[in-house]
Amino acid sequence: MRLHIEPLDEKSPVPFELLTLADPSKKQIDAYLSDSTCFVAKLASETVGVIVLAKINTTTLEIKNIAVKASEQRKGFGKCLLRYAEKVGITQGYKKLVIGKGNSSIGQLALYQKEGFEISSIEKDFFLHHYEHPIVENGILCKHKIILEKALKESR
Ligand code: COA
Repeated sequence: MRLHIEPLDEKSPVPFELLTLADPSKKQIDAYLSDSTCFVAKLASETVGVIVLAKINTTTLEIKNIAVKASEQRKGFGKCLLRYAEKVGITQGYKKLVIGKGNSSIGQLALYQKEGFEISSIEKDFFLHHYEHPIVENGILCKHKIILEKALKESR
């Protein structure tokens, strides 16, 4: 079955179940959703993925959230969503796509780097300051936000 990605219909509910896979803080999600565009990935009529994009400035687009339903992960849909975000960025004239992820998210950091994103900076202790509860993944305490970026060029 083919994955179809489209902007979230204004009348459709926001897929919080998916968004909270990537970001445990509903407060943080609500804060960025109002200034972002949410796209959903569907297999037939079922929503299996989501990606949220926000304008940072005239040259930079940020991926605020990306998630794929647990039972559909590791099938290439995450890659499809990242490539879709690149296309949106190029079409809208942005020069750079950025994404931030915690130091403990080993799989996600692998995915972004395989897709051509490079680490550009680190916000030390971001998760300790902005999240109420400690986040532990892969046995690692999530403390720092690692920012990765990719230059947007017509290529694919
Ligand atoms: N552990 C190790 N590597 C992982 C991984 C994991 N849990 N998840 C993805 N990868 C890497 C692998 O290199 C993988 O390639 P491979 O399957 O050939 O080994 C590559 O990413 C491609 O994965 P893909 O199938 O395209 O990604 P996906 O559909 O599983 O989606 C996420 C990736 C991150 C969106 C998905 O795992 C997810 O929703 N996770 C929870 C939410 C989250 O953390 N979102 C990111 C924060 S904003």
